[in-house]
Amino acid sequence: MGLLEEHPERPTNDSSLLSISNLSIGYRSKLGSLHAIDGVNLTIERNTFIAVVGESGCGKSTLALAIIGLLSTPPAKIESGRIEYKSVNLISLKENDRRKYRGTEIAMIFQEPLTCLNPVYKVGDQIAEAILIREERKGEGESPNAIASESDVMQKVHNTKSPKISSRMQLPRRNLARLFRAEILDALRLVRIPDPEQVMERYPFELSGGMVQRIMIAMALAQKPALLIADEPTTALDVTTQAQVLKLMKTLMNEVNTSILLITHDLAVASQVADRIVVMYAGDIVEDAGVYDFFSEPLHPYSKGLLSCVPSGSKDKARLKPIPGSVPDLTKLLEGCKYASRCPYVMNDCLTKKPTLVEARQNRKVACFLYGQ
Ligand SMILES: Nc1ncnc2c1ncn2[C@@H]1O[C@H](COP(=O)(O)OP(=O)(O)O)[C@@H](O)[C@H]1O
Ligand SMILES: [Mg+2]
Repeated sequence: MGLLEEHPERPTNDSSLLSISNLSIGYRSKLGSLHAIDGVNLTIERNTFIAVVGESGCGKSTLALAIIGLLSTPPAKIESGRIEYKSVNLISLKENDRRKYRGTEIAMIFQEPLTCLNPVYKVGDQIAEAILIREERKGEGESPNAIASESDVMQKVHNTKSPKISSRMQLPRRNLARLFRAEILDALRLVRIPDPEQVMERYPFELSGGMVQRIMIAMALAQKPALLIADEPTTALDVTTQAQVLKLMKTLMNEVNTSILLITHDLAVASQVADRIVVMYAGDIVEDAGVYDFFSEPLHPYSKGLLSCVPSGSKDKARLKPIPGSVPDLTKLLEGCKYASRCPYVMNDCLTKKPTLVEARQNRKVACFLYGQ
């Protein structure tokens, strides 16, 4: 690899926000090494809602953690590839530099929101903390790039006269919440929390799951990220609240001009909010398609299999077919297509050659020998 390729400031295509190329990640354990991500290529455009779907164990969370830079290494090891964000290869950065992107540029909300909030601090104090982190970074000139355009709402959040604070150690949390009061209330209103004055004085355990998840989104957005990663963010919520939170994320995406990478194993959820569907199987992206194309005609046999598992109406429930078999053992080096053992269309080539993700139709990538390789 030449010097130029190693340079972290290599320019990227302008419309893309984040570009992942040839990313491979393994986990080391006593039993050997496990190939969790196997040469993945993915581009995230600005202001796009992408849903990453696939069964459990396909590498979705590993991919998310790699993007935000929170993979524990070891046991994880990035074996190859680049994750370029606004022209910087994040993988080549040292942890100190990498940290500057977390929260302010790329933020993440997790599956269990209550475990991410501190139970002994009031909601307002915790949002204040997120605002403070953003302000401190801004003060240090650490934010690598301003977000190109912002909605009036977020401008308002951002332009509220924030006190200049040199170190968070100088102020107890209570005072912080008082100083940032206007911004905290704006952040809560942004995520449609009714009666924000009262909610900012509550402790997390006093709120419903849906409210807590909205607060996590408010905290993430208070840092104005250009990319918000949400790893199964609504799994712990009931179906109605789940739909509300996701629709809210979609609305906020447009208001705040952020991109969203939603990880879910629920295709019905993905169909309601996503612009693009990315299907992962055993560490590979096997299909990458616009939401309409995907649901009108899934191309990859695995996508077809996943879709046949989704109930489309009460009458269809009786015909629900789980995909036979299971995700292969990723500690083995697998020859050919990893889906071959479960695929109803398997051919000779599938057993010996690995299909690559190629443009099978316009704006539609598939890794399968059925669609030309
Ligand atoms: N910390 C870890 N140590 C070892 N193996 C791991 C670790 N985290 C995940 N894995 C393995 O990596 C593979 C991908 O896991 P994960 O990214 O969590 O998938 P998903 O989010 O799609 O369920 C799985 O086989 C899982 O068992
Ligand atoms: Mg996961």
